[in-house]
Parts: sequence; structure tokens; C-alpha cells
Amino acid sequence: MTIKAIRVHKTGGPEVLQYDDVELAAPAAGQVRVRNKAIGLNFVETYFRSGLYPVSLPFTLGSEAAGIVEAVGEGVTNLKVGDRVAYNSGGAYAEATNVPAIRALPLPDAVSFEVAATLLLKGATAEYLLRRTFRVEPGQTILWHAAAGGVGLIATQWAKHLGCTVIGTVGTDEKAALARAHGCDHVINYRSENVAERVKEITAGRKVPVVYDGVGKDTFLASLDCLAPRGLLVSFGNASGPVTGVDLGILAAKGSLYVTRPTLATYAATNEDYAEIGKNVFDVVAKGAVKVQINQHYKLADAAQAHRDLEARKTTGATILVP
Ligand SMILES: NC(=O)c1ccc[n+]([C@@H]2O[C@H](COP(=O)([O-])OP(=O)(O)OC[C@H]3O[C@@H](n4cnc5c(N)ncnc54)[C@H](OP(=O)(O)O)[C@@H]3O)[C@@H](O)[C@H]2O)c1
Repeated sequence: MTIKAIRVHKTGGPEVLQYDDVELAAPAAGQVRVRNKAIGLNFVETYFRSGLYPVSLPFTLGSEAAGIVEAVGEGVTNLKVGDRVAYNSGGAYAEATNVPAIRALPLPDAVSFEVAATLLLKGATAEYLLRRTFRVEPGQTILWHAAAGGVGLIATQWAKHLGCTVIGTVGTDEKAALARAHGCDHVINYRSENVAERVKEITAGRKVPVVYDGVGKDTFLASLDCLAPRGLLVSFGNASGPVTGVDLGILAAKGSLYVTRPTLATYAATNEDYAEIGKNVFDVVAKGAVKVQINQHYKLADAAQAHRDLEARKTTGATILVP
């Protein structure tokens, strides 16, 4: 079957994204073919496109989507043709994708395709970071960088739902208003304010037990300065570039700090953990504790423009590519 897909033949800027005709084989044993209705855009896809993360060329980009099962491979018993599903799996920037059946989770009726297409990467990341990497407790004050972004808007609502006081950072005043509207108690514009000083002030000098930092290079040192003694920096992304060459002595000097660099791939490696994370995400969305804000739509063919806008910090909340 011939489908349209966004392919990467060489790594580089957004211009390397090609809207190609691709032959999609019938789903192999254990796979289902999903007709994608909505595809989630994620910063991680810019790292695969640019070559920051290792890839083998050529490949179809994309990591999360939602749609309808239109064919099932041999031995698949958990899904049937016509089921509504969402998945986190490679090759999602396409009209249709073959995915392992076990990683395609049936959607509750209350969750639309568009919302579902943001949940098994962005939502799942919020889940494992808040419930597994550092299990936040009611009454704690936490710091979340890029609070108006795709993961940020989901995670900060979730942290509020769990009883935290949430400090968020953002790059513009408009984003500050958006973060506040989604439950951030305190918002810091890190382009114009000193983050560590503001965090000290907000917490009356105590600072925070955990900082969630998907910005990376530009915020790394400020993040360490926001941590209480023995606090944890969860460095989970590189939106401003990767953190490299760290002298571990800095963790001693700043108060016996911890740093982790987690990935969803590790936390959702087993099918059991993946399903449990997915269930927790669907639950908080279905009961309205987390409202997914989809602020941009692009045609799948315009994925390059979506990447340009994401990297230029023009997007807020979640972004959908429409096949
Ligand atoms: N480790 C994991 O398991 C995992 C899983 C999912 C996502 N992530 C990471 O989580 C982060 C957020 O992902 P997302 O898809 O939700 O993206 P996003 O937050 O929607 O977009 C990134 C945001 O980072 C901020 N930023 C700060 N400096 C930037 C710079 N120099 N260039 C571009 N953006 C900059 C921008 O917000 P402001 O303008 O407000 O600064 C921008 O909107 C990314 O680093 C991603 O790689 C990690």
C-alpha cells in the first residue's frame, strides 16, 4: 500500500524533512496498522531530524499518534479492525503506521484522537517524571522549566492536581499568562528575571526539592542553584542544547545535589509499565484534572514548518500534525 510520510534521508535542519510516497507493508505478526487521525509533534523529533540523537537513515520520523486500527497481523488478539487507539512508537509522521499491537492502547470514548495523540509521549513523560523519577508529594514546591510548552502545560496541571505548589518558567509574558491559567502558582520569565533569586524569594529561602528541566544547556546552572540541599535535578531534555562536560564537584559545592537524565524509553520499557503509565494518563485526562491544550495544527505535509516554529519557541501547549 502506498502512503504519504515524512522521511529523513539525511540529518539536518527542518528542510531535510521530505513528504514522500512510501510503500507500507502489511502489518507483521504482532503488529497492527493504524490509520493515523492525529499525530503529536514533539521536541525529541527535532533531535532525531538534526542527528543530535543517533538514527539510521533513511527513516520515517514521528513518535506518537492516534487513529483507527485498519489491519491486524498474525497472532494479534488484543485489538481488532475499527478500534480507536493511541501509541508511542516510531514512524508516526505518516498517513498510516505499523506498530506493535501491545503498544497501541485502546482509547476511552471520552478522549478524542487529537488529545490522545499528545498523551503517550508528552502525557506519559509528565506521568513518569512526577510519579516515578521523583514522586512528588502534596505540599511540596517544585520548579518546572518551559511550563507553557507541550509537556510543561500537562505536567504543571498534573503537579497541581497532586497537591504541589508549582513554579514555572517561560520565555514571554503571553506564555506566563498561559502557564498561570493552567495552574502555575508562580511564573518566572527566564529571559528577564533571575530564576534562582526568584525561587529563593518565593520559597522564603528554602528552595525546592526537585527541578524538572527540559531546556538543558541554558538553564542547567540556574537549576542547580534553585535546589535545596540534597535536591534532585531531573534533566530531561535539550531544547536549548545538551548539557555536557559537567564537573561533578559542582554537585558537592551546591549542596550534595543529585542529577538524573531520564528517558521515557527506560521507564516504559516493559509493556506492563507502558500500559500502567498510559492508564494513569488517560485517567487524569478523562476526569478533567489535566486539560490538554492544543494550540497549533499543521498539515502533515507542512511538518518542516512545524519544526521551525517549535524550535523558534513560537508554539505553546501541544501541536498536532494532521495527515
Ligand atoms: N526525557 C524524556 O523522556 C522526554 C520526553 C518528552 C520530552 N522531553 C523533553 O521535554 C522538553 C519539552 O518537550 P516538548 O515537546 O513539550 O517541547 P516544548 O516544551 O513544547 O518546546 C520547547 C520549549 O522550550 C523552551 N526553550 C527554552 N530555550 C529554548 C531554545 N533555545 N530553543 C527552543 N526552545 C527553548 C521554549 O519555551 P519558552 O519560550 O517558554 O522558553 C519552547 O517552547 C524537550 O526538551 C524534550 O526533548 C523529554
